[in-house]
Amino acid sequence: MYIPSLLRTPGRLGARALAWASPLLLTGCDFNFWRMNGHQSTLEVAGPVARKQAELFYVTCWVTLVIFILVASVLAYAIVKFRAKTEADEHAEPPPQGHGNPLVEISLIAGSIFALVIIAIPTLKAVWFTYDVPEAEKANTYEVTATAAQWWFKFEYPGEQIAGVGPLATANELVIPARRPIRIQLRTIDVIHSFWVPKLAGKVDMIPNRGNFIWLEADEPGYFWGQCAEYCGDSHAVMRFRVVALGAKEFADWLAAQKAPARTVAADAAAAPVARPQFASFTRNQYGFSDKWAEAATVTPLDNWRQQQFPAKVEDPALIARGRKLFQEKTCVGCHTVRGQEGVGITGPNLTHVAARTTIAAGVLENTPDQLARWLRHPNEVKPGNKMYYGGFIDPKSGKPNFTLTEDDITALVAYLSSLK
Ligand code: CUA
Repeated sequence: MYIPSLLRTPGRLGARALAWASPLLLTGCDFNFWRMNGHQSTLEVAGPVARKQAELFYVTCWVTLVIFILVASVLAYAIVKFRAKTEADEHAEPPPQGHGNPLVEISLIAGSIFALVIIAIPTLKAVWFTYDVPEAEKANTYEVTATAAQWWFKFEYPGEQIAGVGPLATANELVIPARRPIRIQLRTIDVIHSFWVPKLAGKVDMIPNRGNFIWLEADEPGYFWGQCAEYCGDSHAVMRFRVVALGAKEFADWLAAQKAPARTVAADAAAAPVARPQFASFTRNQYGFSDKWAEAATVTPLDNWRQQQFPAKVEDPALIARGRKLFQEKTCVGCHTVRGQEGVGITGPNLTHVAARTTIAAGVLENTPDQLARWLRHPNEVKPGNKMYYGGFIDPKSGKPNFTLTEDDITALVAYLSSLK
């Protein structure tokens, strides 16, 4: 009496939970598990390396599924066929065993070898293919260097030298030409990180004192989500980046714009009046993350990136000038470079064209004045343990770190940084 009623309770609770959850499962648009096409999907791929890896995944899945069905069928057959039906069955001798039967043993061994070979051949081919750019494509390869740090990525273009400076350097948004193999040297300046752009290629670690590399290719121009995939400290989970793939002409234009020194807003010259579409299609979670594009988005992520390249419609030269001055006074210059202006630091991301990126704080925050202000106000709330926090002072009133920036200072700095297109 007591036990069955105990069993019934979880049963009823389960049924009720299912009843509640079913509308969500049936209609919930956020629940795209079955489509598996999220930003960091390894199944909806966008390049040859990731495609090869996904194919291998499917081969392994199908082979193991066949084995599972065979084993489960034999097991089910044995359970039904040889179950004890009478009292006498329970004490009967076991039926004749397959053990020692050469036909059964050899065919099982052969079957196992066959299954392994089916998996091994595409595995070896995939290992070979994904390791390095195919010989025939070598001449067409574009080289980039990615250097990880706690908790952001520096991207350098060794083929794009700037006189008296060195290779073109940017941060957290890797812009590449589409339809060309990209060979990326992977480095780290501190701990082990891992470079992962799920739609383009599997992850490869960035290991101290060891040169590693990865190659990948984007089939078409696009905007791809990346993520550090090796636990690397406090803010590992928010160590993100983007890869922007462009057509040949657009990529060349981007390189030319990036190689130019930082943009200076002259007091008398109004900026080109180009309206930028609102980021309304960005669904934000509590962090203000650039996490997900709504289904009804009218602006694709790539188009949004394109718009980000243009200066804002309205700019205040006096405010920008004040921000530029604060950028020196508040020691920002010690860690950041604004090429052609004051900064020369290399501890933090290169900010020469920071406003042309869609995200800040290593892919965590959308690059808008609001989010930029928030990042300057309390960097440690966005990215715990980051060096801008260590470098800052602790405000005795709030107990929170800052660079003794007033709200007016922040407004001016945001205006300055936002002008760096
Ligand atoms: Cu870098 Cu995890």
